[in-house]
Amino acid sequence: MLKKTLTYFILFNLIQFLSLIEINCLTIPFKPTSRHLHAATYVDNKLYILSGLDDNVNEPLGAVGIGGKQFFYLDVSVPFSTSALVWNDLSKDNIVPSQIGATAVKGGANNDTIILYGGRNLTQVESKSLIYTFDTQTDSWNVPIISGESSIKRRSLTAIIDYQGKIYLFGGKLLGYDTYVNDMITLDTINLIWGEGSSINAPTARINYGATLLPNQNIIYIGGGDSLNQSLPLNEVYIYDTINDIWSVKNTLGSIPSNRYGLSVVLGLDGEQVIVFGGLGNQNTVISLGEALYTLNINTFEWSIPNVSGNIPNCRYMHKANVIGNYMVVTFGAGYNESESDVLLLDISNNNEFVWTTNFYPPPPTPAPAPAPPSTPSKNKSAVIGLSIGAILLATISIGTFFLYRRNKNRKVKVSTLHIPNGKLDNQSGQKTVETTNKVDNQEETTQVQP
Ligand SMILES: *[C@@H]1O[C@H](CO)[C@@H](O)[C@H](O)[C@H]1NC(C)=O
Ligand SMILES: *[C@@H]1O[C@H](CO)[C@@H](O)[C@H](O)[C@H]1NC(C)=O
Repeated sequence: MLKKTLTYFILFNLIQFLSLIEINCLTIPFKPTSRHLHAATYVDNKLYILSGLDDNVNEPLGAVGIGGKQFFYLDVSVPFSTSALVWNDLSKDNIVPSQIGATAVKGGANNDTIILYGGRNLTQVESKSLIYTFDTQTDSWNVPIISGESSIKRRSLTAIIDYQGKIYLFGGKLLGYDTYVNDMITLDTINLIWGEGSSINAPTARINYGATLLPNQNIIYIGGGDSLNQSLPLNEVYIYDTINDIWSVKNTLGSIPSNRYGLSVVLGLDGEQVIVFGGLGNQNTVISLGEALYTLNINTFEWSIPNVSGNIPNCRYMHKANVIGNYMVVTFGAGYNESESDVLLLDISNNNEFVWTTNFYPPPPTPAPAPAPPSTPSKNKSAVIGLSIGAILLATISIGTFFLYRRNKNRKVKVSTLHIPNGKLDNQSGQKTVETTNKVDNQEETTQVQP
């Protein structure tokens, strides 16, 4: 009798356990909340997204949302569609407090580490460090010790790394103050030493500008917002020569874009032009569809509106853009709703016609340096992996069945609560409008708002 009951009990729990595995593995893909003022870093076929201001948070001060602690990546070694993004969640080991307006680059001794600078804490827990690093080989965060004069914390700036692993940090806003700055800080990410660049002839103090490294190792700085709540003009752009530590100003020609901040700037694939997307105009005016995208020839400093086909997306601001393969990959930002994907792809491979597309195809892999290994070892390897997985599964089931006797109820509750916030967030973001996001901006980026 007892034996029979026990057998039923074990069988029952086994079925429950297997269905739990299925629920956990198959029906709860990670869906990050939409956000802006986040960090986006491309390292080794992965596009990593960290923190930012959760668009689902509508409350005044104090509300954080779950987005700030999220850290995840998109695998760009395989084709994907922006309508069915598969995000990989790394939030569990994230040691960086929720923050907005931080900036991140790929650097470090092995050129495979995310270096995160600045940002403003969104919770009472203040960032204990100005710099965090994420080693993409070991998936581990670290707070590095950096020598030299440590600078005052700032946010809402764009870090640019040169070919030698040195970061340039221009301008931004001092954390905890309403002070905008225009000095240049440097950080050697290989030897971990702070430094300073020239401020002579530097542009005026600004935040949320666009910037990118040019092939001649100059950095170009475009637009931004100033302390008088104005979006800055694009009729001049600023060049910082990283080799000689010298600033210069270039007057631009052609179809000069309207003033804007919260824009993105990337280098075109030909190395002859930069591509500018998005931003917000004066008094937080949303930029019209036809004026969101421009190119600037970096030899003549002439602006053009490129020929574009495909479905033109809403103009985003406070988004990020990275060049990956043939595409300018725009992530998150404000200014769009649920009808658009969190990721936009602009195929920039043909200068005569850029294409907004929803399908990403990775560049062909670089030829393998060594001949491919014989096929038998890999078969053995998969057999071993299969066996190991089988063994682990068996052990887990046995142990699991034993413990599930008590835990079953709790686990079921956990699974169902996992569903609830997801559903709720979807509803909220479904109602999200540009106005809502603007409202959030007003609270966080008060200096950029005209009352
Ligand atoms: C950020 O941290 C500081 C220091 O702990 C705290 O005073 C401040 O209120 C925090 N900011 C937010 C938005 O919680
Ligand atoms: C790091 O990789 C980038 C290409 O992604 C390269 O341009 C840069 O020179 C590399 N940095 C170092 C220090 O090797």
